[in-house]
Amino acid sequence: MSLVDVLKQRRSYYQINKNLPVSEDAVIKRIEELTELVPDAFNMKSSRVVVALGNKQDTLWDTIDKAFGGKVPPEKIAGFKAGAGTVLYFYDESVVKGLQDQFPLYAGNFPGWALQSSGMLQLSIWSGLREMGIGASLQHYNPVIDDAVRTLFGLPESYKLIAQMPFGGIAAEPDPKAAEDISKRVVIAK
Ligand SMILES: Cc1cc2nc3c(=O)[nH]c(=O)nc-3n(C[C@H](O)[C@H](O)[C@H](O)COP(=O)(O)O)c2cc1C
Repeated sequence: MSLVDVLKQRRSYYQINKNLPVSEDAVIKRIEELTELVPDAFNMKSSRVVVALGNKQDTLWDTIDKAFGGKVPPEKIAGFKAGAGTVLYFYDESVVKGLQDQFPLYAGNFPGWALQSSGMLQLSIWSGLREMGIGASLQHYNPVIDDAVRTLFGLPESYKLIAQMPFGGIAAEPDPKAAEDISKRVVIAK
């Protein structure tokens, strides 16, 4: 598949299951590869990723449910927990602070750049999983869940949670999206 074909297939998949079309090892290898390939400002390598699989996947979504005191609709939690795993995206604040100290002129830019790089990684993994026949969506239960997630995975305080990406076998395709008049958002200047 071309890059455009893969990007066309990447959608928000909310109906997922534990039947992955490839091995867990293949998923892990893909996530590791993409994390290495995605760029970051000053090559600072600020992104951190935790891949919750097996029991940890179930515990994660129980933990999220608990952190919200049961206020997230149970069917939503159950839908994400039904997946085979969840990719958790962080940036390491200690890396960002190190670069801020090293390059004071750009100090204000580094936190934003860390988020931009994470966005690049999120799209790469979202699409890279889809290329393997795996559906995923992007969720944001942070910051409510931050402390509980750090405790669950034994992560340092410097890991700042950005997003959660539950993934799994595709149980249903999303509805097609309406075509867009892209000239409203892309200006060609010659
Ligand atoms: C930065 C960002 C934040 C998003 N946050 C959420 C979210 O918290 N929950 C959710 O269900 N979808 C979230 N989405 C998914 C978008 O709603 C979705 O990508 C968009 O509506 C287009 O649909 P598609 O993914 O099927 O192409 C997010 C997407 C992006 C890029």
